[in-house]
Order: sequence, then structure tokens, then C-alpha cells
Amino acid sequence: MKQQAFGAARMRGMKTLLVVHSSGRATRSITRKLALRFAARWQAREGFRVLERDLTSEPPPVVNEAWIAAAFRDPEKRTDADGLVLQRSENLIRELESADAVVIGVPLYNFGMPAQLKAYIDQIVRVGRTFALDPSAPIPYWGLLPPKPVVVVTSAGDGELQKGGALEHLNFLEPHLTHVLGFIGLGEPTWVRVGYEEFGDDRLKRALSAAEAAVDRLADELSEATSLKTA
Ligand SMILES: Cc1cc2nc3c(=O)[nH]c(=O)nc-3n(C[C@H](O)[C@H](O)[C@H](O)COP(=O)(O)O)c2cc1C
Repeated sequence: MKQQAFGAARMRGMKTLLVVHSSGRATRSITRKLALRFAARWQAREGFRVLERDLTSEPPPVVNEAWIAAAFRDPEKRTDADGLVLQRSENLIRELESADAVVIGVPLYNFGMPAQLKAYIDQIVRVGRTFALDPSAPIPYWGLLPPKPVVVVTSAGDGELQKGGALEHLNFLEPHLTHVLGFIGLGEPTWVRVGYEEFGDDRLKRALSAAEAAVDRLADELSEATSLKTA
């Protein structure tokens, strides 16, 4: 699937799906496969495009002293050097803003999200840019991005860690990612879950079939809703 320049796609008025991959596996990845299945259905419509952001082949930098100083400086007082330090963050935020819908592929790693996805989150969650902060307000934070449909496709080695499972309380990925997406204004994501990848038995087969059906349904519903909204 070809990556497109987000600015160009927007200029042509294309309906854009942003696909964010965070699996460490380039091949055999369940989350990549399901996210690309969604993308293929989206892209099958006339005028619908896909942007792919691969956080593993191109990991966002971790935030450091210079980034934090620049991000928290009054935008009026930012230097050229600040602008350069924040450029990657700015590009990732604009890419997100250019999308009509987003699909995020996320494996469960060590009870949470992969480091490359956390690095991405740290780049796109920025005070005064994607969330506002007013310590004197009754609720001191609010999101600055417009809500848009977000689907998160996740896979875990042990299905008991997924929602409804006996070990659900040890899954810190789902509450964390759900909260942070809402925090910047995108709204609550829809989760598609696969479990038992490490068991490889009938439970995995059933989870995969259910996830494929959910992906197909969501891709059709969201692309239809997007075409109606922007027609
Ligand atoms: C570094 C690493 C950490 C993992 N940690 C967990 C874990 O905490 N719990 C779990 O159930 N599975 C864990 N797994 C298994 C993955 O969640 C599982 O293989 C999943 O299918 C990976 O997504 P992918 O198929 O898209 O690569 C881990 C796998 C790796 C490589």
C-alpha cells in the first residue's frame, strides 16, 4: 500500500484513512494484517485514500530536554531552534488532522503498548496544540482535536488479558490508549480484539474470524458515513 503525502491528499479532497502500525513484526503480524484489511476496503471506494504511518520502521524520537522546553514555551517566544525540535511532532499532528478516520494496530507488549506507540503518543499530545490547559478552570484540561472515528485493532498472546477475560485487570494498554485519545479530543475508539495468539488453538481461530468480520463491518460503516458526511 503506497504512502501518500497527507497535504496533497487533503488538497485533492480525498477521504483519508490514517493507518498507524506499531507491531514490531513486519511479517506475521496480526494487527498489521487486520489494519491493512480495513485499509483495503476503505481504499476500494472511489476518492478514498490511505496514509500509512509505520512506527516501527520509522520510530518517533523520545521527548528530551529541548523538546520539552520548546513544547512548553509560549508559542510567541519560540525560537527557530524550537521550531526545528517540534517539526516532527507538528508533522505527525497535521497528518492526524488530515485524516477522516484512523485505524491503529497495537499489540499488547508487557501488559501495555509498544514503546514506539508511546513515543508517538508523546509527540502528538502537546499542550496548547492538541490539548488545552487552564489550571483555574473547573476541568483544567480539554482536547483540541476535532472528534473523528478511531478503530484500534489489538492482539495479545493470552486472550484472558483482553476485555471480559480473567486477566483483564492486567491489560493497561486499553484504558491508557482509550483515555489518551479522548484527552486530545479524538473521542472514544472502537476496539477490535484478537486473543490467544501464543496458544494458536481454536480460540485463536475464532478470535481471528470475529475480528475479520468486525473489521469488514466497521470499514464499510465508517467509509459510508464519511462519504455521506462530506458529500
Ligand atoms: C515484546 C513482546 C511482549 C509481549 N507481551 C505480551 C503480554 O504482556 N501479554 C500477552 O498476552 N502477550 C504478549 N505478547 C504477545 C503479543 O501480544 C502477540 O504476539 C500479538 O499477536 C502481537 O501482535 P502482532 O501479531 O500484531 O505482532 C508479547 C509479544 C512481544 C513480542
